[in-house]
Amino acid sequence: MATVPFNKPKVQGREIDYIREAIELGQISGDGAFTKRCHAKLEEMLGVRKALLTHSCTAALEMAAILLDLEAGDEVIMPSFTFVSTANAVCLRGATPVFVDIDPNTLNISPEVIEAAITEKTVAIFVVHYAGVVCDMDAINAIADRHGLKVVEDAAQALGSTYRGRNAGTLGVMSAFSFHETKNIISGEGGALCINDPQYCERAEILREKGTNRSLFFRGAVDKYSWVDIGSSYLPGEIISAFLYGQLEVADTVREGRLAVWHRYNDAFKVCVPEDRARLPFIPPECEHNAHMYYLLFPELEAREAFREYLKSRDVMAPFHYVPLHSSIGGKKFGRAAGELKTTDAVSDGLVRLPMYTMDGHECDKVIEAVEAYFQT
Ligand SMILES: Cc1ncc(COP(=O)(O)O)c(C=O)c1O
Repeated sequence: MATVPFNKPKVQGREIDYIREAIELGQISGDGAFTKRCHAKLEEMLGVRKALLTHSCTAALEMAAILLDLEAGDEVIMPSFTFVSTANAVCLRGATPVFVDIDPNTLNISPEVIEAAITEKTVAIFVVHYAGVVCDMDAINAIADRHGLKVVEDAAQALGSTYRGRNAGTLGVMSAFSFHETKNIISGEGGALCINDPQYCERAEILREKGTNRSLFFRGAVDKYSWVDIGSSYLPGEIISAFLYGQLEVADTVREGRLAVWHRYNDAFKVCVPEDRARLPFIPPECEHNAHMYYLLFPELEAREAFREYLKSRDVMAPFHYVPLHSSIGGKKFGRAAGELKTTDAVSDGLVRLPMYTMDGHECDKVIEAVEAYFQT
């Protein structure tokens, strides 16, 4: 059998029909019929006040940083174990990311480390729902309320996940999703900014449209549109939105397909992976996840690399994940670490991700057999 890749982007529903329809409708620039359908779908699925498609989660995070009026001297607390986009959004406003450690069980930012990192300069907390498992948001929001901080969810990986029955993306003032091809619901590149606090809605539309009030003009609220604020071109074209709409329509089926793979892995690995050699993902009881990722966590780098080499020899692709931001060149130049980040360093060395997509039974078997064989040695 061919190599099992880490990820396989797939057409899941009517994406191709919708792309054709977008072209036939005569508008392939942004904010046409399919973008509007995606907005309505996301607002209904998630229960957010406003959803705005962007060309990436990176763009949505940049919009969030502008909406919060971040500026030089401000500090934003975030995990070091995240993608560069979480930090870049803050640095682009001249503000400073303050990197904190993660919880060894969930691999998410934990409330205790946040509290210890707050200074008089802190204005926001950017949380990341790693592997689609939502952070401890009740505790985090309680801290934010006590200190007057804004919470932004980097929900890049968390579409379809819940926390105490509430959707990821509804748990901060705003949230950023990714539809990059490595995510559950995809459009190649793509993202969305979702807004829960109504004070940000109107300005978000303006930033996204190059700082103009074009959206108000199209709604008939102003008689011409012009430059009113800073902004950029953050919106996707209609081809992307049409593809995305086809995916969003079948989001529940995609999630079920991924969960089936996740549980097949988990049931098999509970039996064949010795606890002292690697640990399986931990899902807190208050979280329902979206099977974005299945990882194994080894105690150290050498063991992880030996495992990856073995899987590669059996044609199973298993990448590691984030290189910690606090020790990166950019992280040291533009941000600072709060305290020691021992868990982040250990997890970065020990974590390996297994292939995860809506795979067929044979592909899933091949991964499971390779992992079983490795742990028999
Ligand atoms: C936590 C996190 N935030 C942001 C991003 C950036 O997403 P995009 O590629 O859509 O800009 C990623 C990408 O993997 C991510 O994992």
